[in-house]
Amino acid sequence: MREYKDIKLKDRNTFGIDAVCAEMIEYAGVEDLKELFARGVFGSRWMVLSGGSNILFTEDFDGVLLHPVDSDIRITGECGDMVSVRATAGTDWDRFVGWSVANGLWGAENLSAIPGLVGASPVQNIGAYGVEVKDIIRSVELFAVDTGKEVTVAGAHCDFGYRDSIFKRSLKGKVIITAVNFELSRRENPVLGYGDLYEKTRMLGGATLENIRRAVVGIRDAKLPDPKVMGNAGSFFKNPVVPEETALELKAKYADMPIYPSQQSGCVKLAAGWLIDKSGWKGRSLGRVGIHERQALVIVNLGGATGKEVVEFATRIQADVQYKFGVWIDTEVNIV
Ligand code: EPU
Repeated sequence: MREYKDIKLKDRNTFGIDAVCAEMIEYAGVEDLKELFARGVFGSRWMVLSGGSNILFTEDFDGVLLHPVDSDIRITGECGDMVSVRATAGTDWDRFVGWSVANGLWGAENLSAIPGLVGASPVQNIGAYGVEVKDIIRSVELFAVDTGKEVTVAGAHCDFGYRDSIFKRSLKGKVIITAVNFELSRRENPVLGYGDLYEKTRMLGGATLENIRRAVVGIRDAKLPDPKVMGNAGSFFKNPVVPEETALELKAKYADMPIYPSQQSGCVKLAAGWLIDKSGWKGRSLGRVGIHERQALVIVNLGGATGKEVVEFATRIQADVQYKFGVWIDTEVNIV
């Protein structure tokens, strides 16, 4: 366990926001958490800072940030084609995906190159190219802050939805995810229905695990800015889920508007990137904040932006989209 005071957060959040936190503790697993919470040193303000890839600091953080550093992936069981794999919270997400692909295990490959750590993956049910992490989660291991006990929750009880889970709702601030148990398969199961993934994979020589991973990495590299070069947190907004009637009315006016199915009955999902693009914001900037020129869902820090500037910019976009389409786009990024 390592403890730091007054630590600069600029290199610990992919937005590159120059905030400071009063205290940061790097912990290695559940035993460290038990010790920390038994000491009762936290007062009321603490938060887990995982990979820092989905967070926007709007001010200095005056509490304790807990950062997991335990990185471990192991096979815990096999049954027929199914292979159970446990990864600890501090494992880099893409290391886990790369490990799965290298071991011939199907399920995670479409989720290649998503920044962040394994422990954060269930919180917003990360997803890309037709797959969500809920599809491969068997259970999530937790440390319950109030009782100091370890609990395992089955994936079926995590209330997973589009970029949503029980960890953003009733369990928020009550538990810390310490490990995730995945169910992967030795049986080939390519999921290539999203966008041009099929075509890109075909061009690489066919639907092997390695080729799907390479195709996904290629598509992401072409569309999404590298946070090391330009600060950002991936999609800043969620795709809005609206009633079918709303979508049909809009479709009658904007024939090229994409519509996707939603897990919510009677509703469909619209593409926030398309709505922002059509509102004229793509590639535009105000001061030190802008919209990425190749993907309108991504807000970028053009250098030295504060979190408050980012929020002001995002609010203008939300207002414009609401004015033009009558649809509200919610933020995906965790704003603190
Ligand atoms: N579109 C535009 N203009 C844009 C961006 C998108 O017209 O600037 C249109 C596209 O042409 C397409 C539709 O909007 O018809 C959807 O675009 P895309 O396939 O790029 O996906 P997305 O809905 O914008 C979502 C995820 C991404 C994920 C991709 C691929 C959300 C909030 N975002 O983006 O996730 O990589 O699908 O599956 O659901 C993230 O969460 O950080 C993230 C990058």
